[in-house]
Amino acid sequence: MFCCCIFLAVSLLHSLCLFHVSGYDRSCTEYPVFTPSALIVKYGDPANVTCVVCQKDCSGDVFGLEHAVGKVTQNGTTMFWTVDRLTEWDTYLMCYYNNDAGDQCGSTVDITIYQPPESVSISFVNHTGMMFENQQYTLQCSVQNVAPVQSLTVTFYRGNTALGHLQSNHSEEKKPVNESFTLNITRSREDDGAQYWCEAKLELGPAGPQRPPVVTSEKLPVIVHYGPELKEPPNPDVITITEGDTLHLNCSSVGNPSPSYTWTLPTNSPSYSGSVLTIKSVGFEHEGQYICTVSNPIGTVTKEFNIDVQGECCQILPGKRVTEDQSQYYFTN
Ligand SMILES: *[C@@H]1O[C@H](CO)[C@@H](O)[C@H](O)[C@H]1NC(C)=O
Ligand SMILES: *[C@@H]1O[C@H](CO)[C@@H](O)[C@H](O)[C@H]1NC(C)=O
Ligand SMILES: *[C@@H]1O[C@H](CO)[C@@H](O)[C@H](O)[C@H]1NC(C)=O
Ligand SMILES: *[C@@H]1O[C@H](CO)[C@@H](O)[C@H](O)[C@H]1NC(C)=O
Ligand SMILES: *[C@@H]1O[C@H](CO)[C@@H](O)[C@H](O)[C@H]1NC(C)=O
Ligand SMILES: *[C@@H]1O[C@H](CO)[C@@H](O)[C@H](O)[C@H]1NC(C)=O
Ligand SMILES: *[C@@H]1O[C@H](CO)[C@@H](O)[C@H](O)[C@H]1NC(C)=O
Repeated sequence: MFCCCIFLAVSLLHSLCLFHVSGYDRSCTEYPVFTPSALIVKYGDPANVTCVVCQKDCSGDVFGLEHAVGKVTQNGTTMFWTVDRLTEWDTYLMCYYNNDAGDQCGSTVDITIYQPPESVSISFVNHTGMMFENQQYTLQCSVQNVAPVQSLTVTFYRGNTALGHLQSNHSEEKKPVNESFTLNITRSREDDGAQYWCEAKLELGPAGPQRPPVVTSEKLPVIVHYGPELKEPPNPDVITITEGDTLHLNCSSVGNPSPSYTWTLPTNSPSYSGSVLTIKSVGFEHEGQYICTVSNPIGTVTKEFNIDVQGECCQILPGKRVTEDQSQYYFTN
């Protein structure tokens, strides 16, 4: 049985021998025990394992440790396997003995050889040029030369926020592979100025290295283009202000690229292109409609201010106004 085993392909060997190990109809009363029970080794690192062939049923003198690489030393029925540099992706160890009935009782040890990603990079798929809000884009995280890929998880981040957690579903590959993971995202203006990045982590379990190997990508700066939006809510229909007071018309807006401002004024004053229009001391000549137009290459918004100026006296004697003629107030009493 064992002889057939070693000449078969390694994966087949595994399944066959595992079947062998767990067979009910054998006369084996115990099986060799490996310490540790599984090996998780970084590619190129040294490794060792001990096998106690048997503890009670050791009358026979046929036993051993089958190995493709490394060397074995022996002390009684304890076998010690070591390798200086483990550089075989697909290797196996099998410890066995023949019992009195002539049956072979064997165990294998799981060997996982890992290699942290050589590099991790992030990009947008099929995209060049400007990015706009509310549109969908596909982020791609490319992980190169990682093994075993089944233990790989990839997390996409925006700033410190995890956006998605993906796992490879490559089944049994033991050698290093390249794999790309994608995530669809919809851009919002809040993303503007944020950074995207991804992290590749090998999760090898409790028997693996204390700190799971992690490699992160570079950071991808994000620019989202969007049309102007007013920072302040719209105005009441008419803004009433007292003669001599200071008037601020606030049209401040956000947008990317930064918007520009143009004002249409009731009087033929010089043109103005700031975000806030200030009149230090308001006179009746300042009454009327002010229109602020905010634009960038993506869009335009406007804001209207209708200004009504009251005489100072009206504040002192409210309700006494009887007539008005656009520029003056008259009082009775
Ligand atoms: C055997 O492997 C363990 C775990 O890697 C290590 O701590 C120990 O030093 C090794 N022993 C020998 C003799 O190489
Ligand atoms: C072999 O094992 C015995 C008992 O476990 C121990 O006393 C002895 O030192 C070991 N010999 C070597 C060479 O390790
Ligand atoms: C990228 O664009 C090309 C051409 O438009 C298309 O053939 C390809 O499938 C796209 N790739 C992805 C990942 O969407
Ligand atoms: C996982 O497997 C499914 C079905 O085989 C496949 O469509 C999908 O692309 C795989 N995902 C990854 C990340 O490889
Ligand atoms: C992974 O990508 C690198 C660089 O593109 C390439 O040199 C290498 O051969 C690839 N490995 C596999 C397993 O495809
Ligand atoms: C991402 O979006 C593309 C195009 O809309 C779609 O074909 C693809 O299935 C989406 N991928 C995922 C992982 O949702
Ligand atoms: C205009 O409005 C913005 C947004 O609310 C505010 O930050 C700014 O201080 C205001 N400017 C003036 C002069 O009131």
